[in-house]
Amino acid sequence: MDTAAIIPALFPRRFGRGYPVAVRGEGVYLYDAQGKKYLDAAGGAAVVTIGHGVNAVVEAMAKQAHALAFVHSSQFHTAPAEELAEHLRRLAPGPLAQTARVYFTSGGSEATETALKLVRQYWLERDQPGRYRILSRWQSYHGSTLGALALSGNQRRRRPYAPLLAEFGHIAPCYCYRCPLGLEFPSCGVACADELEKALAADAERSVAGFILEPIVGATTGAVPPEGYLQRIREICDRHDILLIADEIMTGLGRTGRALAVDHWGVVPDLILLGKGIASGYAPLGAVVVAEKVWRALEQGSGGFEHGYTYQAHPVSVAAGLAVQRYIAERNLVEQCRRRGDSLAARLESLRELPFVGDIRGKGLLQTVEFVADKKTRAPFPPAERIAERLGEELCARGVLVYPMKGCADGWAGDHLLLAPPFVIEESELDTIASELRRALGSLRGGAGRGAHGAAL
Ligand SMILES: Cc1ncc(COP(=O)(O)O)c(C=O)c1O
Repeated sequence: MDTAAIIPALFPRRFGRGYPVAVRGEGVYLYDAQGKKYLDAAGGAAVVTIGHGVNAVVEAMAKQAHALAFVHSSQFHTAPAEELAEHLRRLAPGPLAQTARVYFTSGGSEATETALKLVRQYWLERDQPGRYRILSRWQSYHGSTLGALALSGNQRRRRPYAPLLAEFGHIAPCYCYRCPLGLEFPSCGVACADELEKALAADAERSVAGFILEPIVGATTGAVPPEGYLQRIREICDRHDILLIADEIMTGLGRTGRALAVDHWGVVPDLILLGKGIASGYAPLGAVVVAEKVWRALEQGSGGFEHGYTYQAHPVSVAAGLAVQRYIAERNLVEQCRRRGDSLAARLESLRELPFVGDIRGKGLLQTVEFVADKKTRAPFPPAERIAERLGEELCARGVLVYPMKGCADGWAGDHLLLAPPFVIEESELDTIASELRRALGSLRGGAGRGAHGAAL
């Protein structure tokens, strides 16, 4: 027998564990080859907004593929790319809605890389070649390619690749449940925003070109900033004349109950990164919304952007994105997301009294539950206990898919689950999420989870 034949060809995310084979999706449900049904309470990874299996999107993609599957963006533009760009900029705040231009990519990391290079080229066009550093925050995530990972502040994801990462500088996160400055809102006066001011004041060579942040943090903490934080950040960027980049790859296009997360605070960034929700997972697609002052600098300077991807503005991907965004607009699904988000938050609040439930935070259908070993001190569990992963596994066994993450406390320890179901989820399904989470917590507490620290989980 040929032993090579028994080695599976597909490279998995993780060796040593099995993956069910998914065969079908419908609404908020996924089905595997064994016929098992899963409630997709994470939308994959905060990707799926309109639900699985929507015919209108599939038909738009098929129609586009039949008519024209590919052209290179150096030779042609296409109607769906132009229409989707117009649609996306109309969703952007302030003057961006009329004057921004949209650069399409094949996903979030590519959008971050594009922004990194665009900011650099902007300063070259402005005759300030010394500016190249983009500051960011610890405990953040901006993508897995090397430029995007250099900006990211998630220790666990950075460490293996540290020798390959450029060091641009990180400031403290805005994370009220674990304030890095040991302060409390509102008496803190959002001092964490002033960390940016301090970093810029220390930039004697004036090498900082921009600042990137997730307005509401996604996978790494789920932290929501308090009133005034984002406005202060905008004001600091303006005062120091640096570009503000909002990474809305997870939060954008309705996920937090508004078109963009920055809309909760009325802030207008210079660049907005989009991904995930644009095409709701029907096709790989990301985008960078670029303010006029940035694209004009290139237009009036060297005349082009020294950057590009073979598959940027791929016709089938943008056709999928356009069909998804039309579907959302026609059904007012952003408003539905806001209402369902409030319902989900209320149901999760009922879990707050349970042992080990430390914090519940979020906006719209982007909600996070953080677990702690000690509710009083907020001490996290030792990472070896794999609390978030085990809860994720238990919930998966119960047919509910969530997004477990570790490292929220300090980059290493800390456990939380991200919940980000499609906007079309029903109230009864939100009940299922909350009740199954309660049961999963209960079964871990009663079961084998007596960890090294002695507490039963
Ligand atoms: C905030 C944020 N930025 C960037 C990315 C990277 O996007 P992608 O995985 O599509 O490359 C992600 C993905 O999770 C994200 O959540």
